[in-house]
Amino acid sequence: MREYMNKNLPVEERVESLLSLMTAEEKIAQMTQISYNAVSGEEYERFLNLGIGSFLHVLGEDTQKIREAAQKTRLKIPPIFGIDAIHGHCLLNGATIFPSQLAVSCSFNTELIREMGRVTAREVATDGLDWTFSPVLCIARDLRWGRVDETFGEDSYLIGELGAAIIDGYQCDNLIVACAKHYLGYGEATGGRDAYDTEVTERKIRELFLPPFKRACDAGCGTVMTAYGSIDSVPLTANADILRGLLKEECGFGGFVVTDWENVRALMTNQMVVSSIKDAAKTAGEAGNDMSMHPPKVYACMVELANEGKIDMKYIDDAVRRILRVKFKLGLFDGKAEIPRSVIACEEHRRVNMEITRESLVLLENKNNILPLKNFGDSKTIAVIGPNADDIRAQYGDWTYFSHPEPKENVIPENDYYTVLRGIKTVFKDSNILYNEGCDIMDSSRESIAEAVEAAEKSDVIIAVVGDCLKQYGEFRDRADLELSGAQFDLLKALKATGKPFIGVLINGKPLCIEWLKSNCDALIEAFNGGDLGGLAVAELIAGRFNPSGKLTLSFPCCSSQMPCYYNLYEGWHGGRYMDVEPGNVYDFGYGLSYSSFEYDNLRLSKNVVSRDEEITVSVDITNNSGIDGKEIVELYINDVVSSIMTPVKQLRGFEKVMIKAGDTKTVTMKIKPEDLSFINKNCERTIESCEFEIKVGTSSKEYLTAKLTVE
Ligand code: NOJ
Repeated sequence: MREYMNKNLPVEERVESLLSLMTAEEKIAQMTQISYNAVSGEEYERFLNLGIGSFLHVLGEDTQKIREAAQKTRLKIPPIFGIDAIHGHCLLNGATIFPSQLAVSCSFNTELIREMGRVTAREVATDGLDWTFSPVLCIARDLRWGRVDETFGEDSYLIGELGAAIIDGYQCDNLIVACAKHYLGYGEATGGRDAYDTEVTERKIRELFLPPFKRACDAGCGTVMTAYGSIDSVPLTANADILRGLLKEECGFGGFVVTDWENVRALMTNQMVVSSIKDAAKTAGEAGNDMSMHPPKVYACMVELANEGKIDMKYIDDAVRRILRVKFKLGLFDGKAEIPRSVIACEEHRRVNMEITRESLVLLENKNNILPLKNFGDSKTIAVIGPNADDIRAQYGDWTYFSHPEPKENVIPENDYYTVLRGIKTVFKDSNILYNEGCDIMDSSRESIAEAVEAAEKSDVIIAVVGDCLKQYGEFRDRADLELSGAQFDLLKALKATGKPFIGVLINGKPLCIEWLKSNCDALIEAFNGGDLGGLAVAELIAGRFNPSGKLTLSFPCCSSQMPCYYNLYEGWHGGRYMDVEPGNVYDFGYGLSYSSFEYDNLRLSKNVVSRDEEITVSVDITNNSGIDGKEIVELYINDVVSSIMTPVKQLRGFEKVMIKAGDTKTVTMKIKPEDLSFINKNCERTIESCEFEIKVGTSSKEYLTAKLTVE
């Protein structure tokens, strides 16, 4: 038996032993990822026989064929199969589809997000796959950007915490590895334009964009994906400071870096920093990209470079070591545990999905406590109106088999899914339900509005389900205008004019301009893209079968140009407002209602004066003043009152989700570690300065109690 096949040896020894046997071609094959959909025929066969390192977007039995081909190569190095299992194993029709990453972020529930990762890993593993290109750790601060739905929202700290939770979930059973992406600053591209240049300083990188990735490294994330774009004109793919320096050396990342799709070629074709793909391959390899995701031509270029002595083998060896390390750790050489296909969408997975879907919903308005709907029996009629009321594609959102790897128009979902319409019919089974689409999201024709109004007039309550559709977000689909599109606004106004009680439900990939809805609805629910069970959870919330507990992880602007609007924006000298719109956001980060009402009192610190290396404890008493048990998300913000450079007036540094029984008071205790008081100074160093701090604990980024802390 070859030494590296001995599973009793430590991983590092196995890696070195295998590396010492490999030719340059075999090493470079490991650094290559082939797309199962973009390469075919003879070329595909050739790569199979070469023992290529990785394939992406293979499903089902085809993985087996590829593994068998790898077994026929000289060193029998197993390939690693990657897939975009972003909110469940969504490219497989029939698998559990969770709410989008943005939706689940609103749960602030690290335990459930971890479970979502674990469930996804099990379903991905049944297909013989080893690697998900998830989570997205980009910060969504420009809402025009097309990929806001894929993020955990606008706050760097929260993203780090939720990212670490899902990474742990993906990797805890050692079935698959996670991939933290898109490294770095991708969501902050100029003007919210996908894959553009990001104009940020090194200080800001260290303050905001790096910490979630550092957190991912500390959580043991196996891989990182290089973003498409550039930072201050330097393409990420060519950026040795960011890849080798920051990630591998400073953050101590021990896994491997894969490029995003065609990043290497883009150095020549889009970013034009080299004039040939061969130079692109050299630049990318030297900068610290360990594996190139498509096109296969990069393989041939790298081999030429190596044979001509034009690339230092130390870069290739470093990359291959990293890739082999991940493969050995994952057990690919030793035969991974097999997961039966029966786990796909099984009861346990559905239960986890139901729980997280419920906790992801955010109740934005509930005027006069109209919700939960009371006494809605058989004598009642409910009008369910709107283009997203019965559209499973809008409800699933991006990165499912409907949209990837290729857009598909006519697929019938194999699993049991609930749109809002089906949810309402199920939960209010004795009531009379009238459904009308009312209008389209893209087409502004008003033709069907009259019919919708007719249905509304015959009803006791209107549930209007509006939002956006798959054509309006995702890669290549940034939006300049965040108003409700098509004839949705006219539809809503016509429904409102009926004078009937009016509940709005939003199914959307990102915050839209909903000021009118806020003022005119009786209740409003933000559901984002809720996955399989989104429609059922919305109906249950309306019926009061559970108590909502989600809070927004993004702020909502009043109009498209009131941006950016994130909560930790600097105040500015002149109020930071536009003279032609009301100041303030429509909804703020961290906001969300419950059927319970919570009162905060008695905020106290274990010490009010501390030294720079001391940890302190913050406690607050929270009373549930209502007659219903409820979960509250407790948010902790810190303000460094006077610092050598400007810092935000509040910065999230902790949160807890707690269940408080009706009438009970609970003391919630959170820790503040010295680093929570730190910031990156003008010399790009992390520092804690002696001064006054404000510790704010409350129910949203706008409502909190404040205690003073002095650091000496
Ligand atoms: C492009 C996307 O930017 C990335 O998120 C994804 O994982 C890869 N392509 C693979 O599909």
